[in-house]
Amino acid sequence: MPLTAASSSAFQNNYILLRQLAGRVKENMMVVGICGSPRKGGNSEFLLNEALAVAGERGFETEKLLLSELKADYCSDCGDCSKGRPCPKEDDMKAILSALERADGIIVASPVYFGGMTAQLKAVLDRTIPLRRQNFRLKGKVGCAISVGGSRNGGQEKTLEAIQAWMHIQGMIVVGDDAHFGGIAVRPAAEDRIGRKTVVASANKLCDLIERLEKKNSCWGGD
Ligand SMILES: Cc1cc2nc3c(=O)[nH]c(=O)nc-3n(C[C@H](O)[C@H](O)[C@H](O)COP(=O)(O)O)c2cc1C
Repeated sequence: MPLTAASSSAFQNNYILLRQLAGRVKENMMVVGICGSPRKGGNSEFLLNEALAVAGERGFETEKLLLSELKADYCSDCGDCSKGRPCPKEDDMKAILSALERADGIIVASPVYFGGMTAQLKAVLDRTIPLRRQNFRLKGKVGCAISVGGSRNGGQEKTLEAIQAWMHIQGMIVVGDDAHFGGIAVRPAAEDRIGRKTVVASANKLCDLIERLEKKNSCWGGD
């Protein structure tokens, strides 16, 4: 069929419509951040805010889960979820699981406590086991981790490693900061210029990968 002015303009309109649809898809894409500190307004929350701001600026919806506000008991291995029954514990875990399931990307931030993540965060990560048992519901989501300690070499890398182990075991795709393992900072985080750079780089890498996966999966195959 010859390309007339009318068909070219119809093609252009359809293309613009598709691009707008693509934009809407991105708007509906979500990055969820979990802050594992029991302290409100601390260093981990500061860094998580910076990471979520990157995602927000890039057009993602964001949601923040603060373990300083939410309550989650430890997993007691009652076995209910392995038999397909709901978890019997009555706390904020339902809301946390629902946010994680809706997410395309998950950023987990924790202070270093004795060389690892906080007990509050570990309890939450353990309680995500029903998602794994119900057909790996976090599979394919992109994850990155942030850790902050009081000492320069206080166990931040080990903390990232433990968070990333959870991500791998849930079938997620883990990214670092494009050079090393993720966001690593020392307290006070606001003054750690290099640490903050690793946090921003990790958030950008997470967003880059979500966008690439989305383009690949979209019906028009990207640009
Ligand atoms: C129980 C406890 C254990 C800690 N263990 C370590 C540690 O092993 N290494 C380290 O660098 N900092 C350690 N810290 C310091 C915290 O990681 C640091 O104060 C961090 O900035 C707190 O994060 P937040 O401000 O987000 O709560 C510890 C703090 C507490 C309360």
